[in-house]
Amino acid sequence: MEQILINGQSAFAEKGTLLSDVLQETGGYKMPCGGQGHCGKCKVYAVGALSEPDSVERRFLTEQELKDGIRLACRTIIEGPAESRFETQKNAQILLGGQQDAAAKNTVTGSKPLFDKLGVAIDIGTTTLAAQLYDESGLLSQAGADNPQAVFGADVISRIEKSLAGEGRALAQAIRRGLSGLLTELCKKAGKETAQIDTLVITGNTAMLYLLTERNPDCLSKAPFIADWLAGEWIAAKELELPCENAKVWLPHCMSAFVGADITTALLANDIRNGESLRMLVDIGTNGEITLWKNGELFCCSTAAGPAFEGAGLSMGMQGEEGAVSYVKLADEVDAANAGDMVLDETSGFWVHVIGNTTPRGICGSGVIDAVRCLLVSEIMDETGFLEDEEAVIAGNVLLDQEDIRKVQLAKSAICAGMEAMLNKAELKMEEVDELLIAGGFGSFLNLESARTIGLLPRSMPKKTTVCGNAALKGAAQLLLNADRVEESREIAASAQALNLATDPFFIDCYMEGMLFE
Ligand code: FES
Repeated sequence: MEQILINGQSAFAEKGTLLSDVLQETGGYKMPCGGQGHCGKCKVYAVGALSEPDSVERRFLTEQELKDGIRLACRTIIEGPAESRFETQKNAQILLGGQQDAAAKNTVTGSKPLFDKLGVAIDIGTTTLAAQLYDESGLLSQAGADNPQAVFGADVISRIEKSLAGEGRALAQAIRRGLSGLLTELCKKAGKETAQIDTLVITGNTAMLYLLTERNPDCLSKAPFIADWLAGEWIAAKELELPCENAKVWLPHCMSAFVGADITTALLANDIRNGESLRMLVDIGTNGEITLWKNGELFCCSTAAGPAFEGAGLSMGMQGEEGAVSYVKLADEVDAANAGDMVLDETSGFWVHVIGNTTPRGICGSGVIDAVRCLLVSEIMDETGFLEDEEAVIAGNVLLDQEDIRKVQLAKSAICAGMEAMLNKAELKMEEVDELLIAGGFGSFLNLESARTIGLLPRSMPKKTTVCGNAALKGAAQLLLNADRVEESREIAASAQALNLATDPFFIDCYMEGMLFE
């Protein structure tokens, strides 16, 4: 065994071990592309008896970085005693659901909760986990955490690939450990024991539920992309290795391979069947999930936006955590006297907000959308996405380069074209839609005006737009608090007509046209 000093702490590893494996194990180090050598973001300081930098490292690292001892953790092999240091990775902002009023409503309607004494609602997001603990009096505590599967890759596709490569058990153990930690935290905050929990509702996208239950996700990875299991069933907590052995777990229904239980519960939370007659719900992430309710009919689709809006996608992209540029405005759009947390960046001339009010070290999804709008409006970038100078400064050392802009073009076009194709299928125009609901973490921090200007959202807008936060968790809590809603959620999922965008010529036309920043 070789001794490795990690951030000053001693650890041991066999010769031939990947440095990233040791960093993951001892320091919980996260790798954006799951160690596939695609992202170049697992940069750490590492010196000692290590393998020579390979071609992937030489592609992502400058000569100076190599001289300074910077290496890619996922490409560096331990050959003897070594030392490594890396910056502690902070948790991304986690959206919790807010207290549900269903407990109060239940007293009036007489409907029964799913739990007897203590119940938990959980949303397994690709990036974060969020959970709430309830008893019959209402919300007792809530907690959030990073999804520990992030060490296998930032997005769903990387994790499916890892599972297919034989790491399904490790992925399941990682998420189960993460959930167990959350349950312990919830109970500690509320002065309860985890063994007292009798019921859980766990929502998430289809792939997350496959990985939680250790199913083979092969069918989610290749055409015709038909899921062989769509949840909608009870399972024992013991099977998921959770610390409330005697509890039962309800996994809500998914709609398709790409439109999961998180969308079913988000629709439930927004009373999709009872409100206005024409409503659209969009959850923007690596995949954009889009649903449309039209007078009793439900259409759904998923469009692959790629990782441009996520931490792993762009050269300086990162999650919405400390050091991320999260909002950008033009010089004449902010009055210095009322700038609040925004500062005027001297290099770019833009007003920016950096999470944690610190030195900017990257840019998160909401910042990217704002920044692209500013580049467009100030004519630093033209409507084809062309940057005169190959790269544009946003704040300090944070840049967007030409390749980043191309990725944003692909992503925004995929989302907008998905919405247009769905409207076309339902024979509607956007302005006829009564309400557009924007769900999920990215949408919650999005500046809608910037999103419209760059064409991420259609320019003609519905009568009303509502940002609805973590609607997936809200819906899971509503299921937990009202057993009658289980049937309603089943009906929602069963009624969904899935649209296959890959074969829809209208989508393809809109996608091509939508690449321009008109
Ligand atoms: S290149 Fe190492 S994690 Fe992506």
